[in-house]
Amino acid sequence: MTIEVTNTTITDTIRRTEQFVKAKLEGENSGHDWGHIDRVRRLAMKIAKEEKSANTTIIELAALLHDIADWKFHGDGAGQREARKWLESIFIDETTIASVCDIVQNISFKKNAPQVPLSIEGKIVQDADRLDAMGAIGVARAFAYGGNRGRDMKESVQHFYEKLLLLKDRMNTNTAKKLAAKRHQFMLDYLKQFYGETKEED
Ligand code: ADP
Ligand code: NI
Repeated sequence: MTIEVTNTTITDTIRRTEQFVKAKLEGENSGHDWGHIDRVRRLAMKIAKEEKSANTTIIELAALLHDIADWKFHGDGAGQREARKWLESIFIDETTIASVCDIVQNISFKKNAPQVPLSIEGKIVQDADRLDAMGAIGVARAFAYGGNRGRDMKESVQHFYEKLLLLKDRMNTNTAKKLAAKRHQFMLDYLKQFYGETKEED
């Protein structure tokens, strides 16, 4: 009985958070649209299932809230402030709030900032976020991002070398390492084909 009540509450919390994030990211075109959030959430839950011993409620909430206010656009700390405000408004316990906010604040790499060690839940969400920048989805996102900023294809391809091809060596969990290897290979194949077709045009 108690378990049933708890599960219902968790499902409700996730569902309400999902709706909150969806509404907030409506019309977002910085690469953090709802599709990205949903893929990161699913990937994180898949990794969690394989890795075991992680709190899936914290993972799911952190994945849903991880890009709620990107620091590049809203300033440092904005994401965790937004996340806390939301979680407090739906009466989540302080321990969970603190764990989720810690992930939201520290998951993305910030230049010149010391790297804070992440919890296992944070490592899993970070892996999922990085995986979504790789593979076929990663390629699509890179060109979408470049297109949004009026950059040509060659400039977007630069991003593969600056970031996307480095991600496979930055995975935390073994499950993500395996998934990353496949996505990495796809990007290499993609680039080979891209250069092949570029030459044919000459
Ligand atoms: P996240 O915070 O979700 O890890 P970012 O905000 O760094 O990702 O970027 C969002 C998406 O846009 C990612 O897929 C990333 O690869 C892509 N992106 C970021 N910067 C560039 C760039 N200079 N050129 C092309 N794509 C980019
Ligand atoms: Ni993200």
